[in-house]
Amino acid sequence: MNITAKQFKNFSDLVYNECGINLHDGKEQLLKARLAKRLRSTGINSVDEYIKLLGNDNQELIDFIDAISTNHTFFFRESHHFECLENSHLKIWCAACSSGEEPYSIAIYCLEKGFRPTILATDISTNVLRLGERGVYPVERAKNVSSRILRRYFQKGQGKWEGHIKVKDELKKMVIYKRFNLLTESPPLRELDVVFCRNVLIYFDSMVKEKIINKLYSVLKLNGYFVIGGAESLNNLNHRYKYVKPSIYKKV
Ligand SMILES: C[S@@+](CC[C@H](N)C(=O)[O-])C[C@H]1O[C@@H](n2cnc3c(N)ncnc32)[C@H](O)[C@@H]1O
Repeated sequence: MNITAKQFKNFSDLVYNECGINLHDGKEQLLKARLAKRLRSTGINSVDEYIKLLGNDNQELIDFIDAISTNHTFFFRESHHFECLENSHLKIWCAACSSGEEPYSIAIYCLEKGFRPTILATDISTNVLRLGERGVYPVERAKNVSSRILRRYFQKGQGKWEGHIKVKDELKKMVIYKRFNLLTESPPLRELDVVFCRNVLIYFDSMVKEKIINKLYSVLKLNGYFVIGGAESLNNLNHRYKYVKPSIYKKV
């Protein structure tokens, strides 16, 4: 499939305005691959016609953004960040939660420490939110999880679910999933103890990053923590957070 420079600009402007993701010039192959999938599912074979459809059909726009977003995640990713969690932290927001491994890992960490927060888990992609809500994962996705933790918090699938694990209800009840666009929406909660926004800022330019981190600042309690990914930093951005240690910031 070929896309012209003008069509690429149409797509990259749309993606940037919708979710802040910067599809700079090197991302043409990624766009083509993901676009091809959407053309197949919608049965449309002209790129211009598909661009028109995106302007008129909100569900297709959601599905297109789903196809564009990169959802890589895993259980207990950068789990040393969880050490900032304390038993007074009862309201946690996981603001780009992907398919649920991150909020479930946070919930397990807290239960193991003897406290039970509620965790709001949001993402722009409805596909990954469905996976999180379902809480069923191929067993190999949990290969870095100890067998004790697996036994305590997951059920082994049987029959057609052989080779899968399912999050137990105790854990599931702690996590509420909701679609939330970091760029365009107003936060659904305030007075939060901790906000995790990990491994997503990396897709944004400085202007979008500043907008998002300041929006998230406003929903934290005083002394609340803001946690970003290990490959991310708030250096050279305008913000009011106090640096605590790598990836961990505080509202003061
Ligand atoms: C690479 S995953 C990171 C998942 C998890 N936080 C982790 O560290 O493993 C990035 C997630 O950010 C989501 N995302 C991208 N743009 C977003 C936006 N504007 N609002 C909310 N979520 C967004 C993607 O859908 C994806 O699930």
